[in-house]
Amino acid sequence: MKKYLLLALFGAFLLPSISFQQTLRTIKSPGNISTITVGLNKSGEIFYKISYRGKTAVNWSRLGLTTKGLDLSKGFRLRDATASKHDSSWKPVWGEVDNIRDNYTELEYGLENEAGHRMTLRFKAYDEGVGFRYELPEQPGLQTIQVTDELSEFQMTGDHTAWWIPGDFDSNEHVYSTSAISAIDCTPYNKEHAIFTQHIVKMKNVQTPIAMRAASGLHIALAEAGLADFGALHLETDTENLKFKAFLIPSPDSTIKSTNTLPFHSPWRAVLLSKDAAGILESKLILNLNEPSKIEDPSWIKPQKYVGIWWEMHVGKASWEYLDAEGKPNGRHGATTENTKRYIDFAAKYGFDGVLVEGWNVGWEGWFGQWKDEVFDFAKPYPDYDIDALSRYAREKGVRLIMHHETSSAVTSYERQMDEAYAFMKKHNMNTVKTGYVGKIIPRGEWHDGQWMNNHYLRVAERTAQNKIMVNMHEAVRPSGLHRTWPNWLACEAARGQEFNAWSAGNPPEHECILPFTRILGGPMDYTPGIFEVRMNSYNPEKTEVVHTTVAKQLALYVTLYSPLQMAADLPENYEKRLDVFQFIRDVPVDWSDTRVLNAEIGDYITLARREKGSEDWFLGSITDENPRSFSIKLDFLPAGKTYEATIYSDGKGAHWKDNPYPVDIVKRQVKRGDQFTINLAAGGGCAIAIKQQ
Ligand code: NOJ
Ligand code: CA
Repeated sequence: MKKYLLLALFGAFLLPSISFQQTLRTIKSPGNISTITVGLNKSGEIFYKISYRGKTAVNWSRLGLTTKGLDLSKGFRLRDATASKHDSSWKPVWGEVDNIRDNYTELEYGLENEAGHRMTLRFKAYDEGVGFRYELPEQPGLQTIQVTDELSEFQMTGDHTAWWIPGDFDSNEHVYSTSAISAIDCTPYNKEHAIFTQHIVKMKNVQTPIAMRAASGLHIALAEAGLADFGALHLETDTENLKFKAFLIPSPDSTIKSTNTLPFHSPWRAVLLSKDAAGILESKLILNLNEPSKIEDPSWIKPQKYVGIWWEMHVGKASWEYLDAEGKPNGRHGATTENTKRYIDFAAKYGFDGVLVEGWNVGWEGWFGQWKDEVFDFAKPYPDYDIDALSRYAREKGVRLIMHHETSSAVTSYERQMDEAYAFMKKHNMNTVKTGYVGKIIPRGEWHDGQWMNNHYLRVAERTAQNKIMVNMHEAVRPSGLHRTWPNWLACEAARGQEFNAWSAGNPPEHECILPFTRILGGPMDYTPGIFEVRMNSYNPEKTEVVHTTVAKQLALYVTLYSPLQMAADLPENYEKRLDVFQFIRDVPVDWSDTRVLNAEIGDYITLARREKGSEDWFLGSITDENPRSFSIKLDFLPAGKTYEATIYSDGKGAHWKDNPYPVDIVKRQVKRGDQFTINLAAGGGCAIAIKQQ
């Protein structure tokens, strides 16, 4: 690490006369692509600006914190500023690539106010964007702060097109809106979601990550990295001045956003920058801003594909609960010993690692929306679920049961039961748990995205890691790259997943073309793709819901929606009817050595090619929104001199998500580096290709 000193100490006596120019410090990213300039105005307020490829990307914007009884937003003088260069690489335990370069220029901008309180702003300039955070070192007379506001602003340079979801404190399961910044308005969402959430209190608040495209073609995503011990970062939109300002999800005392002990640092604020949409997908900025893994020996952590007793409840074929309203067995319970055996057999036969079983434990009768502390018991199966026999059976078949802990957001109850629940899992040879946080949080007054819950999710990641358990969290805060630090935290839902297609207006065809530019920037999503029977009236003639997709697109999602944990979400009987199509789901891996973005536009289409970890086989996924498209694909990512067999799964003749979602054409052909061919995607369609070395 090479360090160079930009500025020596300033004396306190300089403060009244210090000029903006004297405090200005600039760092450039290693390839001179991103530039950050920081400075103080005459009132000692902090401002920064970001340029990208010589043009302003974020114009002068305010920084600072306010805390109860202590204003850390003005009256500062520059104490010292140090810049340094860093260049290293690291290997993720699992991921989209097997090696990540961490190459940046850092600026430590040390401030002191008239009362002698010190705060440092740490900036990192990468070629692919910028990160910054607030740091308060240990200092006399200041042990604890109660943060009342974060003043960080992001002054945009135009009325960019933005892809956003509303700043709901309690849920990220929203449809994305596409609008100009000046048109951001959450009022329609508030009406739509009135039953679930009364919490979209600010009509112009949006969640991070938010993706934007400027008229110049510059692409920007505003995000957060390393969210710990703080409220999640949402943004207040100033629709007149085209500016965003940090909005931290509060604690139950709505005037306090978080309470922290010194030494303290905030999570990182990340500005991803790229000349095209593909660069946003390729960015490793959020991961690089996170801390290295805390798990010394990660050999027990395994990316996995799973099936489960899950979709049959969402489509209304079976129930989570065991008893009817009269307290008698309802005859529709999904998690029975027999049904679970059927899934274990299916998983073993077709090569899946795990079987998720929901509704296995007592408590599901009338569980929804109770806001009660004791709803579920995580060590007590229903009488028709013989967990001892099933864990033995699964072990014999070389499959693992995946545990389900729906907490119903009775989080204090879950914390009390955690040790016992994880011991129960270990006893039954289970090493993966899916947690869930449906409903309003207990402790009452806390929000899903607030400081207390963010600490809870991390406690779960840490406690499961201590028990060598992998975790998949539903209804948790959206990820911010913490899976680098806790690689046992395989995935989160934390967005509107497949389930919505079973019982609501569902996800529009463009949804999966937006997720990778927004929600998935922070970490993998348990989206649960792979639905072959896309019409819900096949289960119940009265149902009108459909998955807004063709079947070929469901295959492509395994490549385009990155996750080390992927479900084959449909029912075994639906797969057994189409084993030729199902073959792609069996073949597609969940861990990769390399990823190439062949084309992408936010909300329109994405085509990716990925190489399986430790193999020469490639998999290609291409998806589109509601518009049909044709792409010419050039196989220039394959190494020269090798021959491959490509199995191409494309939308069949006349396919359309609405009228004709089912046809899939399967064609095999010999291919090599440099070959070029056209793929045709139907409206709401996709194409998946397995390219295996011969
Ligand atoms: C919501 C989750 O997202 C879903 O996967 C689960 O089946 C239900 N909650 C019940 O826990
Ligand atoms: Ca959910």
